[in-house]
Amino acid sequence: MIKIGLLGCGNVGHIIATHAESIQVVAVFDIIPGRAEELAALCHARAYTDFDAFMQEDFSIVVEAASVGAVRCYAETVLRSGRDIILLSGGALADVEFRDHLIEVAREAGKKIRVPSGAIIGLDNIKIGQVSPPKKLLLRTTKPPASLGLPVTTRMEIFKGLAHDCIKQYPKNVNVAVALGLAAGRDIDVELWIDPEAERNIHEIFVEGDFGDIYVRVRNVPSPDNPATSYMAALSILTLLKNLENPLVVGT
Ligand SMILES: NC(=O)c1ccc[n+]([C@@H]2O[C@H](COP(=O)([O-])OP(=O)(O)OC[C@H]3O[C@@H](n4cnc5c(N)ncnc54)[C@H](O)[C@@H]3O)[C@@H](O)[C@H]2O)c1
Repeated sequence: MIKIGLLGCGNVGHIIATHAESIQVVAVFDIIPGRAEELAALCHARAYTDFDAFMQEDFSIVVEAASVGAVRCYAETVLRSGRDIILLSGGALADVEFRDHLIEVAREAGKKIRVPSGAIIGLDNIKIGQVSPPKKLLLRTTKPPASLGLPVTTRMEIFKGLAHDCIKQYPKNVNVAVALGLAAGRDIDVELWIDPEAERNIHEIFVEGDFGDIYVRVRNVPSPDNPATSYMAALSILTLLKNLENPLVVGT
């Protein structure tokens, strides 16, 4: 059974730790002591608020479900310790200098940085962009006003431009855009909409290339415990972990 260390005991962390079947959560880490202790009790793991002590535990993979800041702080140490890392806060990899450095560290350590599909579908075959660059690659994200704390009463576009620039204005809304860009091998166009009629976060992906065209629409059900996070993102990590040692690999 794969032993994991869980970095981040929030909404996604809870779903992972309490639904893990083919994995064992050995240790959990959070900057908020109460959160680590509560989750540790639920999944029979040990709780840590000290990162160095957490890293002394016996696990082979760290699952990050914390924040972009946590990735910047801890990912390099995780890789250098000889463990793989699964990053849900993939927005951290928008910083090209940081990303290239982390990839180099992983290469030197012979370890992997995995970015799960998270809140979207289709990341697998969008990778064909790496061998046949798409002519169009657009992510249109629509959110309810409350999720961005904006008092908007009619549907309106609040950002249109490259993902690279969206990150500067809406740093908490870029995990999906960064993952898509990394898969396709290029910066992507992003539209961010606020819609009072939207009850869910909606991600629409438009791709055109020599292969034809793609339209994907995902309407994310909020996590049962917290409407601010996507249930699909947590399921995506659980599925990645379930398949990690499977000899049959399906999908590009
Ligand atoms: N890729 C995707 O599609 C996708 C989807 C949903 C969430 N996310 C990302 O996953 C992460 C977790 O989401 P969530 O909804 O569970 O968030 P959350 O706020 O419910 O939980 C995050 C937890 O991590 C802890 N934490 C944050 N920074 C930390 C640090 N530096 N050191 C230790 N602990 C730290 C917090 O105290 C909190 O308990 C977020 O960064 C979110 O943006 C990505």
